[in-house]
Amino acid sequence: MTSRHTYLLALLLLLAACSKPTVQIDPVDRRVDSLLSLMTLEEKIGQMNQLEGAWVNDDLDGQIRAGQVGALLNVVGAEKVNHYQHIAVEQTRLGIPLLLGRDVIHGYKTIYPIPLAQGATWNPDLIREAAEMTAREATSDGVRWVFSPMVDVARDPRWGRVAEGYGEDTYLTSVMGRATVIGYQGADSLDAPIDGQHVAACVKHFAGYSASEGGRDYNTTNIPEQQLRDIYLPPFQAALRAGAGSIMCSFNDISGIPSSANRHLNIDILRNEWGSRAMLVSDWGSGSDLVAHGYAANRREAAYDCISARMEMDMQGLVYQDYLKQMVDSGIVTMEQVDDCVRSILRLKMRLGLFEHPYAESTPDFYADDALLLARRVATESTILLKNDTLDGQPLLPLHGVKRVLVCGPLADAQKEQLGTWIFDGEPEHSITPLQALHEPGTGLEVTYEPGLTYSRDTDLSGIDRVVKAAASADVILYFAGEEAILSGEARCRADITLPGAQAEMMHRLHLTGKPVVLVVMAGRPLAIPDEIGQADAVLYALHGGTMAGPALADVLTGLAVPSGRLPITMPRMVGQIPIYYNHKSTGRPATTPILLDDIPIGAPQFSIGQSSYWLETGDKPLFPFGYGLSYTTFSYGPVQIDETEAKTGDVLRISCDITNDGSRDAQEVAQLYVRQQAGECRPVRELKGFKKVSIPAGQTVNVCFELDTRNLAYWHADLTNRADPSAFQTWIAPDSRSGQPVEFTITE
Ligand code: BGC
Repeated sequence: MTSRHTYLLALLLLLAACSKPTVQIDPVDRRVDSLLSLMTLEEKIGQMNQLEGAWVNDDLDGQIRAGQVGALLNVVGAEKVNHYQHIAVEQTRLGIPLLLGRDVIHGYKTIYPIPLAQGATWNPDLIREAAEMTAREATSDGVRWVFSPMVDVARDPRWGRVAEGYGEDTYLTSVMGRATVIGYQGADSLDAPIDGQHVAACVKHFAGYSASEGGRDYNTTNIPEQQLRDIYLPPFQAALRAGAGSIMCSFNDISGIPSSANRHLNIDILRNEWGSRAMLVSDWGSGSDLVAHGYAANRREAAYDCISARMEMDMQGLVYQDYLKQMVDSGIVTMEQVDDCVRSILRLKMRLGLFEHPYAESTPDFYADDALLLARRVATESTILLKNDTLDGQPLLPLHGVKRVLVCGPLADAQKEQLGTWIFDGEPEHSITPLQALHEPGTGLEVTYEPGLTYSRDTDLSGIDRVVKAAASADVILYFAGEEAILSGEARCRADITLPGAQAEMMHRLHLTGKPVVLVVMAGRPLAIPDEIGQADAVLYALHGGTMAGPALADVLTGLAVPSGRLPITMPRMVGQIPIYYNHKSTGRPATTPILLDDIPIGAPQFSIGQSSYWLETGDKPLFPFGYGLSYTTFSYGPVQIDETEAKTGDVLRISCDITNDGSRDAQEVAQLYVRQQAGECRPVRELKGFKKVSIPAGQTVNVCFELDTRNLAYWHADLTNRADPSAFQTWIAPDSRSGQPVEFTITE
C-alpha cells in the first residue's frame, strides 16, 4: 500500500470512528461515504468519466493527474496499466485508483468459441469454467473489468451481434449469462469481493438492443412492456442476481427513449424494482448520441437527460466532463444525483480490491495447456451435427474406413477468421485450423488441400475447378465454408444471410462430383442455406470456434469426440421468414397443412386453399428448430411422467422421463423441458423451462427429472401484473423445440 493510501485509510477510519451510526451500515458503504465526503465536485465528476486509453485521447496523463478520469478502456499490459495507475494513485489528491475495462468477449488471448457457440453447448458449467479461465488470462495482463456477457436475446440472425449472445431464448440466455458472470467474478453472490484473479463483469446492453428494427444495428425498437419484461429483461436480472458488478446501457431507443436517458429502465426497473446496486455505464458515447438520436437538442441537454436517468459512468461520451459541473453549480442537477453515481463507482472499485492492490502484479499467463484444452472442449461441445446421411450402410460421420480426404473451402485454414468477432487480444497465429489439425499424424488421414475460394466473399470460380479436379482422387470431401469474422459482430448486419461469394456454387459443384461431401459451416450466425445442406451428405454447424476450432473439429470428424451441440437459435430457410423463433404465439389460425406457391392451381379462387399462418414459399417451418442437433448415437425418449397432474401456484412439479442411448457410442444428450399454457393471454406455443446435458453410456438408460416450480409459469399480463394463471398446461421433455409427446397438467387457483 502506498503512503498516500495509508494516510487516506487512517483518515477514513477516523471519520468512521467519529460517526455514530444508528442503523447497521455495510462497512463498504461506510467507506464509500467517508471517501465521498472528502471529494470535490470536480473529483466526483472525474470518477464518472471513462476515457479510451489506446488511440483516441491525447494527454491522458494530465487529465488523470487532474482527477478528471475515473476509468479507462483499452489499456492492457502491466506496464501501461501501472503507468496510469501510478498517476491516479500517487499523483492525485485522493489517490483513487482507476478502473480498467476491456472488451474481453469470448476469451482474452486464448479465444473460446463465440458466445452464440457457447450457447450451443447447453453446458453452463463449461461456460463458467471458460469465463474463469478468461479472467485468469485477462487479469494477468492488468484487466480487471470486462464488457461481457452480452445477454441480448436475439431473434434476428441478420443482426451482426447475434454472434455475441447466447441465442434466441430467454431462459437459455439467463442460464449462460449467469454462469459467465460467476466464472468472471469467482463468486455468485451480490457484493462478494472480486479477487485479483477475477474480473468484474458488465452485463449488456440494457435493454432491448437485439430487437432493432430489421436486424439493423443501432436501430430503433418498439417493444411492448410485457414483451420487454418477459423476453428481454430476465437475463439481465439473472446476471445481476449472480452479482454482476456492472451493467451497460444499450444504443437503441425503445419507443422514442434512448436507453442512456431511459428513467423507466434505469431507475424504475433497475434500481427500484430490482434493487440492483450494479454500476451503470453508458455504451461508447451513447450519452452524447442522444443528440444524433434527435432526443436531446444539444450535448448539454444530453448530459442532463443521462444524469436524470442515473447513467452513472460516461464511456467516452464526454458529456459529464463538459457539462455536469455547470449544471450542479446552477442547481439544475443536485449533488445527491452526482453522489448516487459516484457511490456505485467507488463501491465497484472497492469490491475489486483496487484500493489495496491497484497495480498489475502478475506475469502474463497466456495459452496455458489447461486453457487450450478447455477451449478445445468448448469448441467440441458447441459443434452441432445437423445431418448425417447413411452411405454404404453407415452414417458418413464419424469418418471410418476413409483414407484420402480433400480439404477445401475458405474457412479450412483461416487462422484469423475462425476466431470470430471481438478479439482485441486474440492472436491469429495461435489458432490451430482444421487443416492443420487434420494433418496431424494421429488422424490417420491422407490430406490434400485445395482451398477453391480463398476468403468467404471470393467469387473467382477458377479455384473451384481445381477443387473439382482434386476431388477425383479423394474418398471424402471436407468443405469448410462460412463467413469471415468481419461479417458478424457490431455494425455487421446482413440483409442476405446466405453463404457469401461463390461458396454456394462451390457446394453445388462438389455435390456434382458424386463424392461424399461433409459441409462444415464456420460462421457468426445461423445462415439460411437449405440448398447447400440438401446437397451435402453430412453437415456440422460449428459457428466461429476460436483458437482451438481446428482440433475440436478434427476430433468430431474423426470420431474422437461425439457432437453434442444443439441449436441455440432457429435456422431459417430463407431471410424472409425472419423473425422466426420457436416460442412464437399460436395465432388464431395456426398453420395446418400449408399449400405452397407451386401447388396452387392457376386461377384458384381466393379462399379455395384454406387460410392459415404461413409463407407461400416456405410454409411455416424453419430449416432446423431451436434445440436441434444430432449425435453419433440415437436416443429414445420414454413417456413423460408427472407426479401431480393438478397443482396450485407455488407447488413444485416433478416431471421426468427415461432416455436411452440406443447406439454403441457413449454420448451426451440435451434433454429440454418445455411448457405450453393452453389458455391465458395468448401464450407461446412452447417455452423452455429447463434443460439438462446428461452423459448416457452406450446401451444404457438414465432417468432425467426436472423440478418445475409453478411460480415460474408467471408472466406479464396486459395489466402489467406478473402472475401465473389457473389453466391447463402441456409439458414435454424433448430433444428439441418441435418434437416429443406432451402430457397435461392443470394449475388451479
Ligand atoms: C459496444 C459495446 C462495447 C463498447 C466498448 C461499443 O461500441 O456496443 O458492446 O463494450 O463499444 O468498446
